[in-house]
Amino acid sequence: MQIFDRKTALMDYLSSIKTTNSSIGFVPTMGALHKGHQSLMIQSTQENDITVVSIFVNPTQFNNPEDLEKYPRTLDDDIVKIAQINSNIIVFAPTVEDMYEGKTLSHSFDFDGLENKMEGKFRPGHFDGVGTIVKLLFEIVQPTNAYFGEKDFQQVQIVKKMVEKSHLPVSIVMCPILRETNNLAMSSRNERLTLQERDEASIIYQTLKGAKEKFANNSAKETTQWVENELNKNKKFTLEYFEIADEDTLSTCVLKDKNKKYRAFIAVFINNVRLIDTISLN
Ligand code: PAF
Repeated sequence: MQIFDRKTALMDYLSSIKTTNSSIGFVPTMGALHKGHQSLMIQSTQENDITVVSIFVNPTQFNNPEDLEKYPRTLDDDIVKIAQINSNIIVFAPTVEDMYEGKTLSHSFDFDGLENKMEGKFRPGHFDGVGTIVKLLFEIVQPTNAYFGEKDFQQVQIVKKMVEKSHLPVSIVMCPILRETNNLAMSSRNERLTLQERDEASIIYQTLKGAKEKFANNSAKETTQWVENELNKNKKFTLEYFEIADEDTLSTCVLKDKNKKYRAFIAVFINNVRLIDTISLN
């Protein structure tokens, strides 16, 4: 298995193995890999000649220093999990110094307003950090296809916007959410929950499913009210936001338009661990 911790070494290696027709699949991650990440890798290996997985906990996308500090770092285990999928996958696990060259700062992006909603509103600067690192990684890896999980639907829209505005020749592929047996969306942050909390966190998806049913015959406002009541019943959970938004623009649904596709987005704290989830509504 090829593992690189320097961008120049990875770029040299990729130039030496790729031909003009080679397709490169890229799975950017922050490590603490789980089956959700592995499903992205499987899809990438099926659809491309070469697959690169990056493991990099990107400091510029964390607005909360405690979240950055506590983010699980499990490189050795991650490498084992990648090898289980395919030992030809190339791993890129750089240092902060190598990626940012002493200037650990994000660029300021205009994502046509997608950055001001939900995750962007509650995590100021988050999407500038994501845009900065994903652009840098795309410049290094030069992928044909890049794979992202649907759980971070807003991130997928942001990355698509960045690709469009920067005219980068890469296709963004969104892959379905993988869930635990209790339907909790797989996430590296689940590692920070106790077994009991993981169990109880099934309420997040149950509430989203309930919201989908409500929304079929009720307004966005009534559905949102119902979700807030449901979540408030359990004092262990603090709802940060629940939002029903247009999938394309991410603008909040006020009056339903049958020609638009809507999606519900939720962010919940359980014992200081922040979990997000999403469901398509129509
Ligand atoms: O989704 C993630 O894990 C991160 O936001 C990403 C895309 C790897 C950028 O750091």
